[in-house]
Amino acid sequence: MDLKAYLEERRALVNRALEAYLPRVRGPAFRVVEAMHYSLMAGGKRLRPILCLAAAEAVEGNPQEALPVACALEMIHTYSLIHDDLPAMDDDDLRRGRPTCHKQYDEATAILAGDGLLTEAFRLLGALASHFQDREAVLLEIIELVGAAAGYQGMVGGQMLDLQAEGRKITLKELETIHRLKTGALLTVSLRAGALVGGGSRVDVAHLTGFGEKFGLAFQITDDLLDVEGQASDMGKEPGMDARRQKATYPAILGPEQARQWARRLVEEAVEELEGFGDQAQPLREIARYLLVRRS
Ligand code: IPE
Ligand code: IPE
Ligand code: MG
Ligand code: MG
Ligand code: MG
Repeated sequence: MDLKAYLEERRALVNRALEAYLPRVRGPAFRVVEAMHYSLMAGGKRLRPILCLAAAEAVEGNPQEALPVACALEMIHTYSLIHDDLPAMDDDDLRRGRPTCHKQYDEATAILAGDGLLTEAFRLLGALASHFQDREAVLLEIIELVGAAAGYQGMVGGQMLDLQAEGRKITLKELETIHRLKTGALLTVSLRAGALVGGGSRVDVAHLTGFGEKFGLAFQITDDLLDVEGQASDMGKEPGMDARRQKATYPAILGPEQARQWARRLVEEAVEELEGFGDQAQPLREIARYLLVRRS
């Protein structure tokens, strides 16, 4: 399959839907809507929504049906980036090839834009009852799972641990927990939610969840590697910041070569989770392998 064409087509699909879900309608507090839009539509790989759609496809569901859930996940992800870049957190100036939200607007607006995107994501999920018709229990399960993955038991908790680990020596096990929570949780729930919308069996959902856990960890390892080896012009964000902030990362603890090897092994394990799936899971297999060569 032509992975590049597949990703481009899916990215365009997601972008059109996001644009429709968050129109730049003038009204009171337009500034915050504009800031939400600025960060959401700044580009970005749309990996979480694409994985969500691909998981629905992998269980022979209709990816279109997963599109609103996929968009909600991208809103949550974008909120996490806006807050992650704030001076109180990673203090970054460049994101998705543009000035970060707080640089373009101001800190208060960036905080509110993040809040706005997170809240809008759950409003959007809540508004899907008619879309799910007689499958409302599935929708409620997804809302709970997304809340757990994004919140203190997942991404928010991981971000807390990430900040607490700055400048400290931690074990590999502790680092794995940070990465699993701050990044793995949202990626995993993207796959799980897609599989649930697609009507996957419990066994299929469990395998796609397993795929997500391994993929998520490998993804953050490659993000850490790109911070050491990548180019701002490819990534749309400034490399070298992890070392400057003394972040706990895989290359810092293991060295780049062993970190790369670990990512490779995780990708293999992720792909093994898909053994029982047919051709319709091919995009997921290829997206996993692409992690090892990605430049952005
Ligand atoms: C960056 O995520 C933050 C991490 C969790 C590592 P992405 O690399 O998916 O960022 P975008 O969405 O493409 O900008
Ligand atoms: C961010 O990890 C994880 C989030 C939950 C946003 P990083 O801090 O490594 O992400 P980048 O490198 O700034 O994109
Ligand atoms: Mg961070
Ligand atoms: Mg950061
Ligand atoms: Mg990073």
